Amino acid sequence: MENNANLLTPLELLQRRHSVRAYSEAPVPPVLLNKLKATVTMINTHQHGLKFQIITDDPEPMKAFSRSYGSFTNPRNYMAAVVDTAVENVYERAGYFAEQFAIKAVEIGLGTCFVGGTFNSGKVKAQLRAGEKVAFIVLFGFPLGKEKILAKLTVKFAHRKTMTAADFFEPTEEAAQAMTMFPDLKLGLEGIACAPSSLNKRPVRVVLKGTGENVVPCAKVEEVTPTNLVDLGIAKFNYNYATTTECAWGNGASLVD
Ligand SMILES: Cc1cc2nc3c(=O)[nH]c(=O)nc-3n(C[C@H](O)[C@H](O)[C@H](O)COP(=O)(O)O)c2cc1C
Repeated sequence: MENNANLLTPLELLQRRHSVRAYSEAPVPPVLLNKLKATVTMINTHQHGLKFQIITDDPEPMKAFSRSYGSFTNPRNYMAAVVDTAVENVYERAGYFAEQFAIKAVEIGLGTCFVGGTFNSGKVKAQLRAGEKVAFIVLFGFPLGKEKILAKLTVKFAHRKTMTAADFFEPTEEAAQAMTMFPDLKLGLEGIACAPSSLNKRPVRVVLKGTGENVVPCAKVEEVTPTNLVDLGIAKFNYNYATTTECAWGNGASLVD
């Protein structure tokens, strides 16, 4: 699987990710787990306020939710996105680096699903210090291959790809012209188009800011809530990953700093 994934372009790898809600009983072997742990260590070392933690073989946080939104089967491995809530832009950055984690998991042949609401945060086996909380978790494991009917319906409902890359640009009617001005923009918007978002609301839009030679694409959400900021960070990661760029932090900040 990994060799296979190595042949994909960054955008193709982003597009390969989809939410997996049914997992096999097979444990994730140490060789793969170590790759995920290395990714998390790198993130925690460099990112102030993020304390991501990998927990395996622990079904407790998802126990009461097997019949809820999405209906999960055998969810027992997860990355707990622990954040220090006092740190600036921490929800956005948690989304950004959790998506980096998810794409690493996809690259090594695993399935993932962000879970923001339907889990019991009190049961998450993460170490928390004062001021820290579990913003969300990212499940991971080998996909079961066959999803429950309810999960299938959710996927069908949630995975509507009715939005095109241009729909993520504002104003949409100027997207085509903007894409000719900025060759990377199309690729970046296609990255955003396949980004996961809470309840598939896809709240992130790209706008151009500045004048003359200083015009840059920026990403924003209309309503500033922790959930939307997580979605903002995820979308920014996808834009940057698809186009090999780096963003600035903050709602409405540049995607290509
Ligand atoms: C922050 C966040 C929280 C989410 N929470 C849940 C959840 O509680 N339950 C669930 O089944 N899916 C959850 N999802 C997954 C979304 O429903 C999914 O990403 C979206 O429907 C798009 O589908 P895709 O991931 O297959 O592209 C969440 C996604 C994000 C980004």
